[in-house]
Amino acid sequence: MSTTISIIGAGYVGLVTGTCLAELGWNVICIDKDAEKIRSLQNGEIPIYEEGLQQLVTRNSLAGRLSFTTECGQAVRHSRVVFLAVGTPQGDLGQTDLTALKCAAKEIAHNLRDYTVVVVKSTVPVKTYQSVFNIILEYKPPDTRFDIISNPEFLRQGSAVRDFLYPDRIIVGGRSKKALTIMRRIYSSFIHRHVNYIESSNETAELIKYAANTFLAVKISYINEMADICEMSGADINQLARAMGLDKRIGPAFLKPGPGYGGSCLPKDVKSLIWSCSEMGYNFRIGAAVDQVNRGKRGSVVNKIRELLGPLENRNIALLGLAFKAETDDTRESPAIHVARSLLDSGASVLAYDPAAMDRACLDIPKLECVNSPYAACNRADLIIIMTEWNRFANLNYKRIHKLMARPIIYDTRNLLNPRKMLKLGFVYFDNGRVPFSAAVENMAHLRLGWARRKNARVSRKAGFALQKA
Ligand code: UDX
Repeated sequence: MSTTISIIGAGYVGLVTGTCLAELGWNVICIDKDAEKIRSLQNGEIPIYEEGLQQLVTRNSLAGRLSFTTECGQAVRHSRVVFLAVGTPQGDLGQTDLTALKCAAKEIAHNLRDYTVVVVKSTVPVKTYQSVFNIILEYKPPDTRFDIISNPEFLRQGSAVRDFLYPDRIIVGGRSKKALTIMRRIYSSFIHRHVNYIESSNETAELIKYAANTFLAVKISYINEMADICEMSGADINQLARAMGLDKRIGPAFLKPGPGYGGSCLPKDVKSLIWSCSEMGYNFRIGAAVDQVNRGKRGSVVNKIRELLGPLENRNIALLGLAFKAETDDTRESPAIHVARSLLDSGASVLAYDPAAMDRACLDIPKLECVNSPYAACNRADLIIIMTEWNRFANLNYKRIHKLMARPIIYDTRNLLNPRKMLKLGFVYFDNGRVPFSAAVENMAHLRLGWARRKNARVSRKAGFALQKA
């Protein structure tokens, strides 16, 4: 396998793609402008928290199949296939910022020598391949040839290596038979394993990525609305989601209620598709509704806390979970970060704990106080809010936590805990579509009564002692 592959962009997608292609036997050069990141990678340190990636980077670097450089030109000149895996962040109006992609395309053009397949792996609005093609055509040396392939990724954070090596499908969009043949060679081990391998036009491949991600977002916003409806009608969202998912046409995945979807992809991809549809004169109504429900969900989390505790000044809130989902350290567009900011802005003091994401969260919110254990976060708390579905939050010693707290109130936005067990332990417990919020408010009133009676009893005991002494 003499073909050398270059991957421009050693971020989340590029690093996983490059490392896994090396694992499959290809010679891969990962390129990034960030010299610090490249230095760490050359020293065998990887900058992201991803299961299985460290071992693969180490093994393939030692085998000489995987290398890292900031020298894009040199790598491109020695590569037959160049993947573009640079970031395509969201612009302030929801559009996709293609600056990095266009800059990388120009760099490829300047260094084109022999026939090269340029593969757009980054998530890009439909027809972006045409812009990449035009840039390379304009800046490339005369008498050099290239083709453009669209090859979107479907990697989930927390399972990216597995998702790459065992994909549900591989999508390859392009018109050139020569380029498509080379792509079949690159993915030959998957084709031999009968992995679904779909060849399409560039446009179809580009749009499949958005269609898939926005549909995942539809399922999440849908189940989050159903959670609200369950809460109002006394139904149980977990049972409802399970029953829905047993219908093979629906399926169980992405029907877990929560504080809304986050991450660097779903929020951005939904907004990007809304934007590119409007550019084409089409109103993507479902997308707009999904985005609106999602933003509303994180807002309702804070409103419930405010309704239950009253004014939040000087209230102590324990925030369990900062990452946008479990098994990652990523806090981009994390609902937990939005909620933490709102609570702090409302004057509450927040003690946060997350097994992996605290460093990044403290960069997002410098005044956020993080502690090194969930129990430390719960000490003297007026309320615990569980924001990220880390398994360990389901297995904490809640009997001990009850004793630590100033007010035993738990808001479980991920429905991780057993309501009956929490109520038996004496907590005011509410969640997301199982225990109605109104029950918590009522329960709270009883508790306040109890606290007031106990306080009066303490006061009269003290008074009694004082009289005896006098
Ligand atoms: C997503 C897509 O799944 C992946 O295919 C694409 O390539 C990149 O974007 P990722 O962003 O890593 O992957 O996260 P994902 O696992 O999809 O979860 C996204 C968000 O939805 C998280 O905040 C998660 O907590 C939330 N979610 C997910 C739910 O609230 N309920 C669910 O049932 C599933």
